Amino acid sequence: MKPVKAGLLGLGTVGGGVVNVLSRNGKEIARRAGREIEISHASARDLKKPRICETKGIQLTSNIMEVVNDPEIDIVVELIGGDTIAHEAVMKAISNGKHVVTANKALIAKYGNEIFSEAQKKGVMVAFEAAVAGGIPIIKAIREGLAGNSIEWLAGIINGTGNFILTEMRDKGRAFADVLAEAQRLGYAEADPTFDIEGVDAAHKLTILASIAFGIPLQFDKVFMEGITAITQEDVSYATELGYRIKHLGVSRRTDKGIELRVHPTLIPHRRLIANVDGVMNAVLVKGDAVGPTLYYGAGAGADPTASAVVADIVDVVRTLTTDPENRVPHLAFQPDALSDIPILPMDEVETAYYLRMSVADKPGVLAEVASILGGKGISIEAMIQKEPAKEGSNADLIMLTHKVIEKNMNEAISAIEALNSISGKVVRIRMERLDS
Ligand code: NAP
Ligand code: HSE
Repeated sequence: MKPVKAGLLGLGTVGGGVVNVLSRNGKEIARRAGREIEISHASARDLKKPRICETKGIQLTSNIMEVVNDPEIDIVVELIGGDTIAHEAVMKAISNGKHVVTANKALIAKYGNEIFSEAQKKGVMVAFEAAVAGGIPIIKAIREGLAGNSIEWLAGIINGTGNFILTEMRDKGRAFADVLAEAQRLGYAEADPTFDIEGVDAAHKLTILASIAFGIPLQFDKVFMEGITAITQEDVSYATELGYRIKHLGVSRRTDKGIELRVHPTLIPHRRLIANVDGVMNAVLVKGDAVGPTLYYGAGAGADPTASAVVADIVDVVRTLTTDPENRVPHLAFQPDALSDIPILPMDEVETAYYLRMSVADKPGVLAEVASILGGKGISIEAMIQKEPAKEGSNADLIMLTHKVIEKNMNEAISAIEALNSISGKVVRIRMERLDS
């Protein structure tokens, strides 16, 4: 049988990785797919740039539409990134009747509903395993492996760059900017690295995970997001002292009132496996009603790990080339006409426990004032430490862990605490999750 021809849009970190993996493991991959897979056409902006892969034998162009319109090509692999030119190329590939594989979470999170609907009409597949958690086959695990479950919640470290920065800051005391620059050199970071550190990339990925876990449309605009830029060495040390680690988590939970969709720094008990996921590694915990808690772990970014997921998608597409389009695994795990309109819970109504740090005057009665405000909002304190002031007469750090309360009550309590004369500056608040079953 003739090889299946695929066209690559992008020959950067992931595109280069895909060429390398296909060339290294081509024979074994063909035994799995049932056909050889050939990258016959590829595009990049600058054809003179050195590449991490061999491009001999691949027709190269700087015009992406030459690849998208190439009649020889069955599968278009989009590895450009962003949601402008990539969106245009993917829509055109679908209208040309080509299957699409993409690693682009921004594109799927924002335009996935439209893309899948068009793909459905044209009877083509759009596969996106590499869009979430790099090399971890988390999409397949939830969409297929957990298909018998009602998913209750999921929580994940889903940005490799952010986890790499937090780990290096904690373990080696390195400066934020220095570690971010290294993540960029290693090819982990997004073209715009603010997406990594402000939580946008994790929010893209959480949008996709929640959709396939709960059978809801993609709703990126409803994700609550906080990044890692405000995390300080002090909070990392106090969290450790209290038996916790700070991780940047994406959390989605089904509640009676709606689905939680939130990305923020989170204190996790240090004995949880996920609290010990370090560096560029990612991990996703998924709790199903039948299976219980399950944990998926692996490299969250980088050329070869991401290529592993892209190539697996290409193999999936090749295996289904001759199948009836009506009987393929649905893009978002649930049949398109069976998606639910269960609402996304506003952040004000989300219930979590909290870590609070405040700078207080070292005099009698301050603690009672703070406790009284918290008590008035129905917030009970689980643990507390007060540090000695650095010198006599200066302020002391007061750190509290609270039991669960809805965010609205905590916001009101924090505003009232910040208005006290005995409190200086802002109250630092980090949400806490136990992540037990
Ligand atoms: P990258 O290294 O920056 O590569 C992007 C490629 O697209 C380059 O070859 C670039 O050409 C080409 N390109 C960029 N803008 C273009 C334009 N306007 N027209 C034509 N070609 C253009 O990016 P990457 O890290 O491989 O990421 C690609 C995608 O994978 C993104 O969606 C990213 O979010 C996703 N992803 C990345 C990782 C990772 O670890 N890096 C992991 C999972 C998912 P030149 O090389 O000539 O500049
Ligand atoms: N910039 C992303 C990350 C790439 O660091 O996780 C993988 O999606």
